[in-house]
Amino acid sequence: MRRPVIAGNWKMNKTVSEAVKLVEELKPLIEGASAEVVVCPTFVCLNDLVKTSKNSNIGVGAQNMYYKDSGAYTGEISPVFLKDIGVEYVILGHSERRQYFKEDDSEINKKVVAALDHKLKPILCVGETLKQREAGEAFDVVSAQVKGCLKDLESRNLDDLIIAYEPVWAIGTGKTATSRDANEVIGFIRKQLVELCGNDMAEKTRILYGGSVKSSNIKELMNMSEIDGALVGGASLDAKEFSGIVKFNL
Ligand code: PGA
Repeated sequence: MRRPVIAGNWKMNKTVSEAVKLVEELKPLIEGASAEVVVCPTFVCLNDLVKTSKNSNIGVGAQNMYYKDSGAYTGEISPVFLKDIGVEYVILGHSERRQYFKEDDSEINKKVVAALDHKLKPILCVGETLKQREAGEAFDVVSAQVKGCLKDLESRNLDDLIIAYEPVWAIGTGKTATSRDANEVIGFIRKQLVELCGNDMAEKTRILYGGSVKSSNIKELMNMSEIDGALVGGASLDAKEFSGIVKFNL
């Protein structure tokens, strides 16, 4: 059985005081939830949120990181710094980073390797654009991203790997992929994992859906056999709404 993961991607929202308030509100609302819960605020909030979420069932993740440990890389944050303050997860390859900051599969691959080497749990994002979907290229695009981002991992322990399938056209648009479509692509990603890392690993790896997930559509998504949780943007910024997603099975 794969334990569901519900992760909130706060993107560039919430100041430190707002972030702390949101987690304080969230704590009692999600107490006893069966899902693994993660919140991913901006870098400047991480330290405070690790402290605020101590002794709760909320894990803390970053939204990005660089793959080098330290050095002359102005403006970057390394896995060493994240680990040092108790961060456990890191979102990598989000479509906004691919689109606005020109990250490609080979760079994201280096970040995945660095995260695993530092025992951070990467939440690797993949997904096609609307143009690619309409051209019938969704499966080819996702396959290339999975293979490109998960290169050279043979000798590594992949227990910590989490993947999020986020069709770009469904992010922040209010359009959700149908649960059947999402399930089909996620099943396809799992098949790619069988080729890359074997049956056992593929069966163990949690693969989430992301794109306009809300408390009103999470149940249907979670009823699908391949969907192991959600990466939630907009709806994770409100404690009540996010807790409704976390407690999808209640
Ligand atoms: P959304 O964002 O839930 O606001 O669509 C999801 C994401 O970008 O991770």
